[in-house]
Amino acid sequence: MASLGVNIDHIANVREARKTFEPDPVKMVLLAELGGADGITVHLREDRRHIQDRDLNLLKETVHTRLNLEMAATEEMTAIALNLKPDMVTLVPEKREEVTTEGGLNVIKHKNKLKEIIQRLSDEGIPVSLFVDPVQSQIENCSEVKAAWIELHTGKYAITKNKARGLELSILKESTAKAKSYGLRVNAGHGLTYQNVEPIAAIEGIEELNIGHTIISRALSVGLSQAVKEMKSLIINPRKDNFLL
Ligand code: PXP
Repeated sequence: MASLGVNIDHIANVREARKTFEPDPVKMVLLAELGGADGITVHLREDRRHIQDRDLNLLKETVHTRLNLEMAATEEMTAIALNLKPDMVTLVPEKREEVTTEGGLNVIKHKNKLKEIIQRLSDEGIPVSLFVDPVQSQIENCSEVKAAWIELHTGKYAITKNKARGLELSILKESTAKAKSYGLRVNAGHGLTYQNVEPIAAIEGIEELNIGHTIISRALSVGLSQAVKEMKSLIINPRKDNFLL
């Protein structure tokens, strides 16, 4: 059964829309954890468009579950992670003009740089996950650069429908099995919603799903604790024959 990492970046997005003090993602974490979050994920972007350094430092002190820091593979971010020592670092590609993380890392192209950063973080006891598309050559290279984990990009699955979505689902299943055969541990996320999460939650071998936008959106109606609770129950008890696939 997969666990749930709740991405709280969108709470900070609302705060930064006004550059004020509310809503405070640090305070909201309590509600996410009460609702059953197994971990909290934040993406400290180079342009600090949502999560701020202050949030990260406070979260390190206050998160009771696990803190997963998403970040670009840069010297600045590596120094921050080495100093903060989160429970996990997930390396993601980052473009300033993108609305959200658009694709997985090109592990093949950035092999040497990634290997060096993974080594430095691992030496300090920080497990590193690489956010990758479900593509065999990329997954192979994740084990070569000595990542302990990967996070499979579910974005394409999320935006397709019917037969095409079924195909993306089988690609994600095969990718999970392939990654595990290389000794990698597997998370997944991006674009998952209350409507499409169940078939992904039912994939054997995926350990954690990182989900943000849909939970924060639902929280506007029912509150964060309840929104997390509802997502957890879909993940814990997914219908394998989900008719929305
Ligand atoms: N995983 C990664 C690597 C991400 O960059 C994001 C988006 O910040 C997520 C998961 C969560 O995606 P969503 O907000 O679509 O649930």
